[in-house]
Amino acid sequence: MSRVIAHLSRRYHFSASHRLHVDALSPEENRAMFGKCNNPFGHGHNYVVQVTFSGPVDAATGMVTNLGDLDSFAQREMIDLFDHANLNTLEAFLDRVSTTENLSMEVWRIFSAYPHAKLERVHIEETGNNSFDYFGEGSPFLC
Ligand code: NI
Repeated sequence: MSRVIAHLSRRYHFSASHRLHVDALSPEENRAMFGKCNNPFGHGHNYVVQVTFSGPVDAATGMVTNLGDLDSFAQREMIDLFDHANLNTLEAFLDRVSTTENLSMEVWRIFSAYPHAKLERVHIEETGNNSFDYFGEGSPFLC
């Protein structure tokens, strides 16, 4: 019997600050590139992260993965790290601009280690008007 594959998505929230800045550029160039997002003291966002997984539906439980397991993983591996943090001070952003594009890749790196289902998509809402998707290195959108 073939296994039935289903997808599940779960949303998580954290608040964090950041500043868009490239050390190699001058203050004027940074200002021109990033505008007020380059303000020296940074600014904050209430990030909404949605992760989507796929996997076989367990015949006994009817689930792809236990959401309690996923929530514990998200809390330990992502929220504890990012919530009320300055993203620029974290190791992942010491040499990468803390854009939400780059944050999406870091969230992908974190959740791709989740052992009970296959990560398919990371979706992050930075503001009501901005959202970002990352599908990993197997992405059909790679050029
Ligand atoms: Ni911002």
